[in-house]
Amino acid sequence: MMGGDPLLSGFEDPDEYGFETRAIRAGQPHDQRTGGVVTPIALSTTFAQEAPGSPKHGYEYSRTGNPTRHAYEACVASLERAQYGFAFASGLAAEDALLRQLNPGSQILLGNDAYGGTFRLIDQVHGKKSGVGNAAVDLTKPDQIKDVWNPDCRMVWLETPSNPMLSIFDIQEISDVVHELGGLVIVDNTFATPYLQQPLTLGADAVVHSATKYIGGHSDVVGGFVATNHDALAEDLVFLQNAVGAIPSPFDCYLALRGVKTLAVRMDRHCENARSVASLLSEHAAVSQVLYPGFRNHPGHEVASKQMSDFGGMVSFRLVGGRAAAERVVTGTQIFTLAESLGAVESLIEHPGVMTHLSVAGSALEVPEDLVRISVGIESTNDLVDDLTQALDLVL
Ligand SMILES: Cc1ncc(COP(=O)(O)O)c(C=O)c1O
Repeated sequence: MMGGDPLLSGFEDPDEYGFETRAIRAGQPHDQRTGGVVTPIALSTTFAQEAPGSPKHGYEYSRTGNPTRHAYEACVASLERAQYGFAFASGLAAEDALLRQLNPGSQILLGNDAYGGTFRLIDQVHGKKSGVGNAAVDLTKPDQIKDVWNPDCRMVWLETPSNPMLSIFDIQEISDVVHELGGLVIVDNTFATPYLQQPLTLGADAVVHSATKYIGGHSDVVGGFVATNHDALAEDLVFLQNAVGAIPSPFDCYLALRGVKTLAVRMDRHCENARSVASLLSEHAAVSQVLYPGFRNHPGHEVASKQMSDFGGMVSFRLVGGRAAAERVVTGTQIFTLAESLGAVESLIEHPGVMTHLSVAGSALEVPEDLVRISVGIESTNDLVDDLTQALDLVL
């Protein structure tokens, strides 16, 4: 979706309507022919033209542009306060489009905690196959970026909160430092979602999402998204959607757009439940450390309070009994399902070291073997607390 979008008619100014209203209405005018209030799934792969190269309604071929995708892109762009929004087939496909901005010989700096698949894409695909260098930096000290920056550096990539260590990085401070050095700042906003944090308003050049998570919200669609206000980057992303073709199907776009409508109410409940679960974990004798930015003693609490409106639905914790205890706890829950992924209505539990973050083993991003990550869903709070308590009791 490029700027000046007719689908956003009436919703161009993100300050005119609140987040929840834009989630339900932005980019989603009533169907002109039928009055239908829900955006239809446009399955047509090709669209009629008046004359060669003059499509009747702005669409030519569905890889290039599709009405359902367009509605979804306009909506999420509005939520991220972006002029431009681009949907991709997965979070990694969205990341890949951004990483294609880097030429062989250039370098990317990344925070020392990130999703394992992101590290694999940067290190093994854009790194080993395409000659883009990478280095991990402690982004909690933005001034240190200057010490490692060299003439080949082009981009700083961060997740905040990060996966799975729940580290918090100051988007505004990092953006100020990196812009002074002439680089781009990319923020993976998957954990926070635009409901809790809008990185573009804090100086980031682009936001990337695994829409598979909170945006879709129901564990039934894989997707990715990039939002930006950067004209040149947007030009290239629209080119890459068409030239590479890693775009989501109309049905996937419909599901993601359906999910987005309830993002605000889901996030409120995720945050509430995570608070209760984090508090149980902090009191349980089997737990040695709780990683949750909502706690005052979390090193990123102050920054999180400044740049997020709440602390999200993700919590990680470490176990006194080490790896064996972690394995026992993740197989001991009934309501929390042992599975990869996160951000959906149902609670999930996993062991990052052998599941989502296996590909960072041996790197600067390696995660502790006694670490458990939970995605706190929106079930009844007491059921979640009781379930985790009985699983933790197993390792006392
Ligand atoms: C923070 C984060 N970013 C990106 C991705 C990749 O997204 P996808 O699985 O949709 O390709 C994930 C997947 O777990 C993730 O957790």
